[in-house]
Amino acid sequence: MIYKNREIIVLKSLEQIIGRAVEMWTGIAENAVKDRGFFTAALSGGRTPVRLYQTLGENTSLPWNRTHIFIVDERFVPFDHEDSNYRMINDTLLQHIKIPAEHIHPVTTEDDDPCYSAEKYEQDIISFFKKSGSNVPRFDLILLGLGDDGHTASLFPETPALKETLHLTASVTPPGKFKKERITLTFPAINNAEHIIFLVTGDSKAEVVREVIETDSSLPAAMVRPENGKLIFLLDKSAGSLLSG
Ligand code: 6PG
Repeated sequence: MIYKNREIIVLKSLEQIIGRAVEMWTGIAENAVKDRGFFTAALSGGRTPVRLYQTLGENTSLPWNRTHIFIVDERFVPFDHEDSNYRMINDTLLQHIKIPAEHIHPVTTEDDDPCYSAEKYEQDIISFFKKSGSNVPRFDLILLGLGDDGHTASLFPETPALKETLHLTASVTPPGKFKKERITLTFPAINNAEHIIFLVTGDSKAEVVREVIETDSSLPAAMVRPENGKLIFLLDKSAGSLLSG
């Protein structure tokens, strides 16, 4: 179903969602490698994508030697910390695939200042895309999750990073229940992507999914509107259960 330049796909089970996500990943990766010789993907943390990353990690036919993996957002903790998104993505995907080490672009968190980490990450992104011949970083694929408060990446409601229009990254002090400082991609990076896939499952997300997709919401996830890219919501039946369509 196409709604407001978005494609909303509701599937019965997590396994069906993973299957469709792998199909999409494969098509996007193969086209990118054919067109430009490499594929760039920025991955989110959280619980939802774990099964997808594990499934991708078992896939030996994807062009991993032409793939560059970036991180959508990171908690300002060491790589071996239980809250580290890099650690989760490495455990589930990176250590299982034949990807050159220099194709992995984590957010370095050993600096003593999250702002400095955010600046360094932005420089890494800019220099990577410059070296690849494009001045404006445009990820082939950005995989996003959705928090029940409407956040995505580490772009939380009513935080200054939502207003960033120039820089590709920002350091964020998340609200209350989220403990650690974060570094996140901002809308200038996210909304310039060629494909953005929201992967959302579970009853707890049904109301925020409805609000983001079917109302003129100002929640951060509703501000994800790629200028000239494709936006896909990949939902299980529970997360899509309150959609009118
Ligand atoms: C993070 C993620 C975050 C996540 C949502 C949904 O660092 O936690 O990037 O934006 O995608 O919070 O998380 P779940 O998939 O665990 O529901």
